[in-house]
Amino acid sequence: MIDNVFVPSFGNKPKNLVGREAILNRLYNGINSVPGSREKAQLILGQRGLGKTVLLLMLAEEARKQGMIVASPTVVSGNMIDRIIEKLNDEGGKFIDKKSKISGGNVSVLGFGAGIQVSEETSFPKSSEQRLVELCRLFNSKGHSVLLLVDEVQANQESLKQLIVTYQELVGEGADISLVMAGLPGSVSAVLNDHVLTFLNRASKLELEPLNLNDINIYYRKVFKELGIELTDKMIDDATSMTGGSPYLMQLIGHYITIAANDKGKLDKTDYQKSLDNALDDYKNDICQTSIAPLSDRDIEFLTAMAEDENESEISEIAERLGCTSSFAQTYKRRLLQAGLIEQHRRGKVRFAVPYLAEYINSGKI
Ligand SMILES: Nc1ncnc2c1ncn2[C@@H]1O[C@H](COP(=O)(O)OP(=O)(O)OP(=O)(O)O)[C@@H](O)[C@H]1O
Ligand SMILES: [Mg+2]
Repeated sequence: MIDNVFVPSFGNKPKNLVGREAILNRLYNGINSVPGSREKAQLILGQRGLGKTVLLLMLAEEARKQGMIVASPTVVSGNMIDRIIEKLNDEGGKFIDKKSKISGGNVSVLGFGAGIQVSEETSFPKSSEQRLVELCRLFNSKGHSVLLLVDEVQANQESLKQLIVTYQELVGEGADISLVMAGLPGSVSAVLNDHVLTFLNRASKLELEPLNLNDINIYYRKVFKELGIELTDKMIDDATSMTGGSPYLMQLIGHYITIAANDKGKLDKTDYQKSLDNALDDYKNDICQTSIAPLSDRDIEFLTAMAEDENESEISEIAERLGCTSSFAQTYKRRLLQAGLIEQHRRGKVRFAVPYLAEYINSGKI
């Protein structure tokens, strides 16, 4: 069958959002809180494929409905502030009457399309930060609050620092502006410069958990029924538990099952099994491999030592396997906890936080 339901890729809006109501509510409430409140700066943290970008996109959609001017998710990069200005201009232009003026500025950025006239009086160009400030003031003066969405927050990017400083200045003058960011758990690490770190630590944090398996099961049942794909209860239950709560794997499994079904919605056991295998291969490639890629050799040795254990690992035993002191092992434990690859289970014990990572490591493909 042709699949037009499942979308196993990154940074796209799924056809149907599974779960996440509570977290979306918190995000909505945050951006609707009074100007200047702490909840207006929020940080979504979650491992790869857990749906950070999707949440930013959903929030953007809702905020637009409420009349906010939204800068759609911008990935942290060198010219991030200019990109944000372009997006705000593009979106907000229709709300601004032609006579509104933003004095000064870089004509190539502020002058295009959108109905905003740029006064020619000023002879020197203004900084990107200043143009962002003036644009926000302008939208606020027309009764629109502003929402900035920043994706893939990374350590030590100068442009993130500039954006944060500008946001804080705007908050200081009482502007109605929100800043919602998303990144991997390791993006808020001690290597960040103090200013950015302090800001991110004070922002309201939302840590993404895997999806609830029950929600996935209900979704699979509904969607496969609608598609006319015949699966036994056991097939659906097995597919559900195989997702491990990963939205990305949920999309992959759904996709491979759908394209394996014939035009009458039937697929035999072999095709079903092959669909699950294909999905898992893609998942390991896209999630496990990319999670491990930035790690140091020592981090990987730590994870490899952990992967020998069935479910949870004792730090003292890991240290023994690595032939290092417990306090040395604790340093690596902290780094991997921060990166979101492992989690504290019970006192002194850790386990993998990314589904199938242990299996991937044990497969010897790294
Ligand atoms: N709640 C959800 N319901 C249904 N599908 C979802 C949900 N969350 C994410 N997805 C799907 O999972 C995939 C990954 O989502 P997304 O790109 O938002 O992840 P991410 O956390 O931003 O990943 P990365 O860290 O790689 O940027 C996409 O195909 C998306 O459609
Ligand atoms: Mg993303």
